[in-house]
Amino acid sequence: MGANKNAVFLGITILICLIAYRECASNYTFPSYFLFGTGTSSYQIEGAWNESGKGENLWDFVTHNTPEFIDDRSNGDIACDSYHKYEEDIALLKNLGVNFYRFSVSWARIYPNGYPYNPNQEGIAYYNTLIDALLAQNITPMLTIHHWDVPQRLQELGGWTNSRMVNIFTEYARTLLENFSDRIKYWITFNEPYTFCNEGYGSTRYAPALNMSGRADYLCAHNVLKSHAAVYHLFNNTYRSRNNATMGICLSAMWYEPSSPEDEEATERTRQFIIGLYSNPIFSTNGDYPEVMKEYIGNRSVAQGYSKSRLPQFTSDEIEFIKGTFDFLGMNHYTTRLARNSPPTNNMVSFNSDMQTEMWVNSSWPGGREPIVPSGFRKLLTWIKNTYNNPIVYITENGYGDNGELDDYVRVSYYGSYLEALLEAINEDNVNVRGYSAWSLMDNFEWKSGYTWRYGIYSVNFTDPNRPRTAKLSATFYKNVIANRAVGDYPSLS
Ligand SMILES: *[C@@H]1O[C@H](CO)[C@@H](O)[C@H](O)[C@H]1NC(C)=O
Ligand SMILES: *[C@@H]1O[C@H](CO)[C@@H](O)[C@H](O)[C@H]1NC(C)=O
Ligand SMILES: *[C@@H]1O[C@H](CO)[C@@H](O)[C@H](O)[C@H]1NC(C)=O
Ligand SMILES: *[C@@H]1O[C@H](CO)[C@@H](O)[C@H](O)[C@H]1NC(C)=O
Ligand SMILES: *[C@@H]1O[C@H](CO)[C@@H](O)[C@H](O)[C@H]1NC(C)=O
Ligand SMILES: *[C@@H]1O[C@H](CO)[C@@H](O)[C@H](O)[C@H]1NC(C)=O
Ligand SMILES: *[C@@H]1O[C@H](CO)[C@@H](O)[C@H](O)[C@H]1NC(C)=O
Ligand SMILES: *[C@@H]1O[C@H](CO)[C@@H](O)[C@H](O)[C@H]1NC(C)=O
Ligand SMILES: *[C@@H]1O[C@H](CO)[C@@H](O)[C@H](O)[C@H]1NC(C)=O
Repeated sequence: MGANKNAVFLGITILICLIAYRECASNYTFPSYFLFGTGTSSYQIEGAWNESGKGENLWDFVTHNTPEFIDDRSNGDIACDSYHKYEEDIALLKNLGVNFYRFSVSWARIYPNGYPYNPNQEGIAYYNTLIDALLAQNITPMLTIHHWDVPQRLQELGGWTNSRMVNIFTEYARTLLENFSDRIKYWITFNEPYTFCNEGYGSTRYAPALNMSGRADYLCAHNVLKSHAAVYHLFNNTYRSRNNATMGICLSAMWYEPSSPEDEEATERTRQFIIGLYSNPIFSTNGDYPEVMKEYIGNRSVAQGYSKSRLPQFTSDEIEFIKGTFDFLGMNHYTTRLARNSPPTNNMVSFNSDMQTEMWVNSSWPGGREPIVPSGFRKLLTWIKNTYNNPIVYITENGYGDNGELDDYVRVSYYGSYLEALLEAINEDNVNVRGYSAWSLMDNFEWKSGYTWRYGIYSVNFTDPNRPRTAKLSATFYKNVIANRAVGDYPSLS
């Protein structure tokens, strides 16, 4: 895709900007309370897929049974081998100087077949060791309870479309709270429900790739929201005080920018369908799904001959039960899209035709596959502040994917410009962001992209059985940001 042309273009812009740098940079610094971290998830890094009593999960099943689903036919059987190399990973974190480390627990290590009885003590012991080793280095663990790796037996029962998952997930979470809440300060119930519900149940981009758009995605969202709330209440009522901890949920959000002023209403509808589907029930004053979703999906369902809306309804008790179940919003943000109105031309059932908009990339944005649009990051943060009454926000993921080169100038540019935008959001827009976690600590199994697409600030050599880690330029850059609590020099792309 014009890689050489891009490289030349980049080289020139980097030069220009290094020269012009003093003009590019603001002089803001991160507030004293602000925390820095990096993130990973269990299936993407651990490996040891069948060790120490771990059961099979959805991604084990998909990668083993339909390897063609993954771009390079790879899997997470070994991945970064972090299950064995966690001490080395903690040394990397220590070198970076991070305050916290965001990782997830592999559900099938705790409950090998998913059913919540007789937890696997070896699985619990592994995370006890990891947590203790982090604390010994003064690194605060931020624990994600569910980062997409559902035990396969539960997936066969319908996964997140099955309402029994609410109780099953709550019992799994209770086991983690029971064993770890004396030491965990930051809990996250779910990572990116939009991605696994809408793109896993609603399309074929992620496992389980059901492609039941406009149906299974809404069922998934409904059960995930109820599960989140049930676990939050359990935490709030019983476990919070053990370590004066906090709990939130991580939502993925691009910024959606109207492609023309007339498209502002359609663009706001896009934000409500993609972000508000999950954030409105939890973070808004009134709770429940966004009104615009109830109206659009309800009307279309009737026109399609359904007796009621394909979007499930919460009872008023459920609305109250879910509303306010957060201490913070975890925001995963990567890039921006343009949006405009796009009424469907047929009666097909799908999420996009319910939403009635389309999204695309402005070809003049730099960055390639994931355009680099730091102004979108700042606008998103302001939108969150204004829409949900200024909640505490942690940026739980932000980063840039590429082919894995060590001299990752574009990633450095990405981090530099997004951290600048974040500083402006904090200092000029008074957005309540308390911390930032770079995705990812190291190259890892990038789901459908396998090992062809890399987000690490450390490189991992996946052909070497020892899986050696090597710092990229971005690791050095991020280390300096943390040490100076300021962004410093970086090559700009604009
Ligand atoms: C940052 O500080 C330098 C030196 O004090 C100054 O020249 C520059 O104009 C400042 N930049 C901005 C954006 O305020
Ligand atoms: C675990 O899986 C590997 C393949 O990844 C296989 O070689 C090994 O025999 C399995 N071990 C057990 C205990 O099943
Ligand atoms: C996990 O917690 C349970 C209940 O408190 C306890 O019985 C068990 O020993 C703990 N497991 C480990 C490995 O510490
Ligand atoms: C997904 O479903 C849509 C609509 O039914 C269909 O057009 C498309 O071919 C399906 N995609 C795959 C990969 O099955
Ligand atoms: C508990 O944590 C909150 C911040 O989340 C802090 O304001 C409060 O002082 C802490 N309380 C105790 C008893 O440490
Ligand atoms: C695309 O980006 C260019 C350059 O920033 C801008 O001039 C143009 O208005 C953008 N197009 C749209 C539809 O926003
Ligand atoms: C949905 O239906 C109601 C009642 O017929 C109507 O007033 C409203 O305009 C419709 N909304 C949309 C977006 O079609
Ligand atoms: C959490 O617990 C506190 C103290 O018991 C209570 O005031 C608060 O309403 C609870 N939060 C939610 C969302 O239920
Ligand atoms: C990765 O490891 C393999 C096997 O040890 C080695 O041949 C190769 O040169 C390494 N690649 C890099 C980029 O270091």
